[in-house]
Amino acid sequence: MNILAIETSCDETAAAVVSDGRRIIGQAVASSAALHQKYGGIVPEIAAREQLSSILPVITEALSPLTGIPTGPFPADAVDAIAVSAGPGLIGSLLIGVETAKAVAMATGKPVIPVNHVLAHMYANFLETGPEAPQILFPAVSLVVSGGHTELFLMENEQSLRWLGGTIDDAAGEAFDKTARLIGLGGGGGVAIQEAAARYDGNGPAIRLPRPMLHDDTLTFSFSGLKTAVMREWKAVASPDDSIRCAFASAIQEAITDVLVAKTINAASRHGAMSILLSGGVAANARLRLAMAEGLAEAGMGNIGLVTPPVRYCTDNAAYIASYAFFRGNPQDWKNVTAEPDMSVEVES
Ligand code: KG4
Ligand code: ZN
Repeated sequence: MNILAIETSCDETAAAVVSDGRRIIGQAVASSAALHQKYGGIVPEIAAREQLSSILPVITEALSPLTGIPTGPFPADAVDAIAVSAGPGLIGSLLIGVETAKAVAMATGKPVIPVNHVLAHMYANFLETGPEAPQILFPAVSLVVSGGHTELFLMENEQSLRWLGGTIDDAAGEAFDKTARLIGLGGGGGVAIQEAAARYDGNGPAIRLPRPMLHDDTLTFSFSGLKTAVMREWKAVASPDDSIRCAFASAIQEAITDVLVAKTINAASRHGAMSILLSGGVAANARLRLAMAEGLAEAGMGNIGLVTPPVRYCTDNAAYIASYAFFRGNPQDWKNVTAEPDMSVEVES
């Protein structure tokens, strides 16, 4: 079954064709991130305008292995359904993907599969992106860490998802993004923190940052206190130079990572997990990946398989939207599909 998927929930415009939820036939991603840099955050109006102009070229490129180059007509015989991120996300952005998907469905008679963008992130782990298919043993505990979400789920098989807990305030990615700005890394977010932390040579001021709820027995996260603490510590430094900035970046990365690792390992132990899946933009973080593996070894849980998508499939793309649609999708008549910016992730099914 070939699914054409469309993703426009935030500042990316992405499309992909995926066969049977795993094999990527074609894909394309356009990002407006650079246009938002000077504003220090995503400007929804700019994101939506860019998506409007890039949606058809991106879909065309994703379909090109099916249509041939130069582009032929829509390959209706080779596409079985149109999946689309229907929420959560920015309403102006979501509408562009959703209405485009509906127009394609109306013209071709194919069903639309509305997809929850956050739940779909974890299906990046099911894609065949390397020489060997990922080995996922169930039950699996899945951590989705993105710009807007920090959530833990239990998967009993490829179809079933149970929400276990999440953040009560800022998401991990949001904490990276806000603290990056505070220490003068502009709109570079988690990537800029990772790069600056890698330059840290171990010398510099002692920076004490909180690890909220680290030792309590809940699967709840809270990251809003981190930015206040970073602001306070940063102001206390008389003349911050690059080496001090790198020390802060390292401390921020360690604080966020410690909490994500502890809570995920706690969830894995409670639910007898055989695998841990990471996904979402923050799962691109090299330190998080390493710390999770180290944490499992230290906890004597090294038998649990740690599965991580390649970095390019952690951040927003449409391949995992198609995978989710294949495993959990509910095909609909296009007339019944709407964008839902506040779609809940607290599922149990
Ligand atoms: O999943 P994603 O691309 O979009 C959302 O659905 O939100 O995640 C974007 C988030 C941003 O907060 C960004 O700073 C963070 O992922 N991110 C990273 C890294 N790459 C992206 N955070 C830490 N380390 C990275 N290498
Ligand atoms: Zn995302």
